Amino acid sequence: MSAEPARLLGIETSCDETAAAVVTESGEVLSSVVSSQIDLHARFGGVVPEIASRAHVELLTPVVAEALLQAGMAGPEVAGVAVTVGPGLIGSLLVGVSHAKALALVWGVPFIGVNHLEGHLYAALLEEPDLELPAVVLLVSGGHTLLILMEGHGRYRLLGQTIDDAAGEAFDKVARFLGLGYPGGPAIDSAAMEGDASAIPFPRGLKDQGYDFSFSGLKTSVINYVTKNPEVETVDVAASFQEAVVDVLVTKSRRAARETGARAICLAGGVAANSLLRERTLDACIADGLSAYLPSRSMCTDNAAMIAAAGWWRLRSDGATPLDAGADPNLRLTLI
Ligand code: KG4
Ligand code: ZN
Repeated sequence: MSAEPARLLGIETSCDETAAAVVTESGEVLSSVVSSQIDLHARFGGVVPEIASRAHVELLTPVVAEALLQAGMAGPEVAGVAVTVGPGLIGSLLVGVSHAKALALVWGVPFIGVNHLEGHLYAALLEEPDLELPAVVLLVSGGHTLLILMEGHGRYRLLGQTIDDAAGEAFDKVARFLGLGYPGGPAIDSAAMEGDASAIPFPRGLKDQGYDFSFSGLKTSVINYVTKNPEVETVDVAASFQEAVVDVLVTKSRRAARETGARAICLAGGVAANSLLRERTLDACIADGLSAYLPSRSMCTDNAAMIAAAGWWRLRSDGATPLDAGADPNLRLTLI
């Protein structure tokens, strides 16, 4: 009988990253392989769903094999297979879900369907298992902008969300307009380092009202400003735009922590890789006596280690997912 700790294989194919990882029950990441399709989609300026699903079909088998190899395993020793079942692109989700079901069936281990958003929440817990709760979690990705009060494992209270564009979507659209390329977040992040963040006073939508967010007015404002002032430096526009987004995100997270009595602010999702957002969140937490949880950048963007981590929690709380469960492109986080 082997004394190896129990391990879960995690699989993530909800958008344009094909990822697999092996995570132990205690949260040790034995491998985390992410194959990005950025080069395939870059010339279209965004993710093309049909290209994404076809690429997942080609990439998933080698990515899973690599994750098992890096974890020093041959496969059947896993305690289960966890996979993202939504939200995301339906064709892409189905590739991962079918693959995970086939592996679980052949290996005779549990199949565990995981909500991608819950995966992002578990990214922070993987690196900070003793995360202090309740925590305000700012989940900012390409498709979502949610302000959540995490009261315990699986206990999420929604405080606010975007009423139009997601924060990452705003970064991607503005970067595309400025000709900075795709994906837009990292491009604006680095362009902004060369620019003056106080150059243009872009609007801060809903900054002082409640916990909901709005970014489409800001995007329109950037387009109008550049159209009227074509000589403006692109780096100044990037820096001023980023300043406006981060100002709103941090102001609301901070207010939410104060008003709910949370002990920490935690970042999650691809936009949580943003340098200014990380810096300002840390400053706010220090000023307010809160703990700050900033997952490493590779854990913020889509990966399968976070899916396996959330999978462990779901396996313990709900048991295996039935094999006839499907994928849901519009899956929501279950809230209290
Ligand atoms: O979580 P994620 O990898 O995929 C989704 O679930 O959507 O997030 C991707 C989003 C994209 O919009 C991307 O532009 C943004 O995260 N992003 C960033 C940065 N890195 C990725 N946004 C701002 N600054 C960054 N450094
Ligand atoms: Zn994501």
